[in-house]
Amino acid sequence: MSEKLAVHGGKRTVPEGFIKPWPHVTEADRKAVMEVFATARITEQQQIQSEGLAKEWAEYMGVQYCIPVNSGTAALHMCVAGLGIGPGDEVIVPAFTFWASAAAVLHHNAIPVFVDIDPTTYCIDPNLIEAKISDRTKAIMPVHIHGMPVDMDPLLEIARKHHLGVIEDVAQAHGARYKGRLCGSMGDVAGYSTQASKTLSSGCQGGLFTTNDEVVYRKAALLQYFGEWVVPGREREEQEYNAYGLGWMYRGDMFAQAFIRSQLRRLDENNALRIRNCNFLTEHLSGIKGLETPFVPEKREPVYYNYVVGFNPKELGVDISARTLREKVQEALRAEGVPTGQWQRLPVPMQEIFQNRVGYGKGCPWKCHGSEVEYHKDDYPRAVEFIDSHCYVFDVNPPNDLELMGMYVEAFQKVMDHLDQILE
Ligand SMILES: Cc1ncc(COP(=O)(O)O)c(C=O)c1O
Repeated sequence: MSEKLAVHGGKRTVPEGFIKPWPHVTEADRKAVMEVFATARITEQQQIQSEGLAKEWAEYMGVQYCIPVNSGTAALHMCVAGLGIGPGDEVIVPAFTFWASAAAVLHHNAIPVFVDIDPTTYCIDPNLIEAKISDRTKAIMPVHIHGMPVDMDPLLEIARKHHLGVIEDVAQAHGARYKGRLCGSMGDVAGYSTQASKTLSSGCQGGLFTTNDEVVYRKAALLQYFGEWVVPGREREEQEYNAYGLGWMYRGDMFAQAFIRSQLRRLDENNALRIRNCNFLTEHLSGIKGLETPFVPEKREPVYYNYVVGFNPKELGVDISARTLREKVQEALRAEGVPTGQWQRLPVPMQEIFQNRVGYGKGCPWKCHGSEVEYHKDDYPRAVEFIDSHCYVFDVNPPNDLELMGMYVEAFQKVMDHLDQILE
């Protein structure tokens, strides 16, 4: 091991070009996409790919209905609309997520109400939900963040008690399980993203909507395609051209769908390889003083969309903030060739749109519906603390394997062994 840190001119631990990109594209994926061109009329493929993906994802999830769409945000918006949530209604959302979870609520003129996170899993804390329920609350949106399943049983119990819908945001958790149940199969509706970086990736944009409820499915289907009823594959011939309500254009793309269908065949295998990589990191990084590795509660099977590392300066006896320690170590790790970074910079309710309640203009939806919901900066201390004290280690996806994970561990060890040099 080179003793001189790369950030001070030493040899980097992970050689340039060693890391393999995600999604991993195989010959089977290429063939699947090329087959879209194989029919005489390419337009037929729209129905073939969409229905094929809907059937295969519903089967994988063990649910009744699936609608492939063009983004996770679209799928979540369909969840909100499908449950009949409307202007001025409130939906409970975790304070730490990608803000698209909350945008999906705003898109339907409803109002997100945020709840802080569980400091051990970084998912919504079910213990804090009831205090945020009002007579306007219509649903709870658990987000399985970083691929970690939310503690669903207490959350479902609260939803039952208060007659609330449950919208699962599974953008980051395809194939993750809670007490043996797949994330996305426990609530009333679920939205999944298949955007390029996701554990089920289209290589570009995409999303999936699922439910077991026929009425919800039909409402979501209407919203997905201009608010019109159409017979798939016979749009021109049998379309009524009669909008039953306001709809959007959320249809997915057939090339992306062909790619996802091929990737889906390897989802469990890829998840298993990613989990093995991350378990290796946890096993080795947890022994390094000053670092905190992900905590996995019993009966939860995360898929590690992101691998999260925390920093604890107190454990090292150094008088600096967790944020400063993280930033210094990250800089040194990056020089070693370890792709570490930040994701969210602010809890969602602290972002401008909520601080200024700008919404879609003139203070709506808040002002338009006499909403008193406010977003105070001090209400989400755990989300703030998480963001300050944690970083992400990227590229834990296959085909990267334990050889790369070993280099990551070596680089962490090297940097943490030479902390005095980077904290000077
Ligand atoms: C937690 C979460 N929810 C929703 C989304 C939105 O998905 P998309 O980017 O496909 O619209 C994302 C993804 O980026 C996400 O990470």
